[in-house]
Amino acid sequence: MDLSFDSRKIIYLDNAATTFPKPKEVLERMTDVYGRFGVNPGRSGYDLCMVAGELVYETRKALAAFFGGTKPERLVFAANATDALNLAIQGLLEPGDHAITTTVEHNSVIRPLNHLKRDRRVAVDVVPFARDGLVDPDDIARRFRPSTKLVVVNHGSNVIGTIQPVAEIGRRCRERGIRLVVDAAQTAGVIPIDVAAMCIDVLAFTGHKSLLGPTGTGGLYVSEGVEVRHTRFGGTGVHSAHPYHLDEYPYRLEAGTANVLGIAGLFFAQQYLAARGIGEIYRHEMELFARLQTALGTIEGLTLHGTTSLAHRLPVLSFTVAGRDPADVGSLLDVDYNVASRTGLQCAPLIHEQMGTAPRGTVRLSVGPMNAESDVDAAITAVQEIAAEAVV
Ligand SMILES: Cc1ncc(COP(=O)(O)O)c(C=O)c1O
Repeated sequence: MDLSFDSRKIIYLDNAATTFPKPKEVLERMTDVYGRFGVNPGRSGYDLCMVAGELVYETRKALAAFFGGTKPERLVFAANATDALNLAIQGLLEPGDHAITTTVEHNSVIRPLNHLKRDRRVAVDVVPFARDGLVDPDDIARRFRPSTKLVVVNHGSNVIGTIQPVAEIGRRCRERGIRLVVDAAQTAGVIPIDVAAMCIDVLAFTGHKSLLGPTGTGGLYVSEGVEVRHTRFGGTGVHSAHPYHLDEYPYRLEAGTANVLGIAGLFFAQQYLAARGIGEIYRHEMELFARLQTALGTIEGLTLHGTTSLAHRLPVLSFTVAGRDPADVGSLLDVDYNVASRTGLQCAPLIHEQMGTAPRGTVRLSVGPMNAESDVDAAITAVQEIAAEAVV
């Protein structure tokens, strides 16, 4: 392994995969705290353990409030958004139930639902986006049946950046007593989320994208009155004599030792986000993104997919170059220009099928909080040159 590689030469435009680099102060503070208090939280009464437990609790509290939740104990930590979505989807559906989702989803929604469909007799309807990559809430409501228990929707697309009208979908679900799970992997940390105002029953988030925490973090906020069945069991550090896993939150959905280092990262990242302001971060990203999208839109032979609207949008775009395999464009960007992109289906095959970009997919560029105008300009020049070669 060569750890001497100089990552500073990389023009990193793969922030939809994970934001990079993370704020230096977050990394420094999390390792400092882990070095001093990195013991097993909530297991014993000695001081170190109490401090570690307090750190975990304060992070729950901060994140619950960040998402408009009033109950810190209903903020459940998980390993990432995939883990969190599995907990929610498997814990809310039973054989014979009907669930509705969309073509915009990531495999972390599609696959758990497909497994329940194949193995547990759950019926699943998949709603296509209507136009501009946006799902029409009425298209979802039209599929409601007496057996519909759950709607699972993506908040922000990791392929084309569209932000779905979650509140309107939530209102329709609430009217019918149907649970709404929202995959906020791409939006948490950059788009304001209020679970109460948006009628979200269960919010799934990841910690390592716009929340600016480390990989290996994520979780759920489970709104009051919503009961997610536990689907895994084990130690919680309390009531050890009890033969079954505990029902109360957060224990209900957490088993085993918490990721203290990662949770410390989320805690200090919350402070970073509060100081810089998520509105300011979004404004910064979208300004760079608009520059990128506008310039790419003028390149001969290049197609921008899904939408070019800047409204209801994250700084994520997908493109193809006529006559070029997206994987080759990604390799050229990497090898010849040091531009980090993501190519292929980006773990979201159904949106590509609907856009007509399957099976080869697209090249995705995604702007993050640490990007500068020079990154975007370098990427524009690189894509211009690659596309010009393809035309010749
Ligand atoms: C929309 C969406 N959902 C879910 C996930 C899964 O997130 P994680 O890799 O943190 O499990 C991603 C990650 O790319 C995503 O973009």
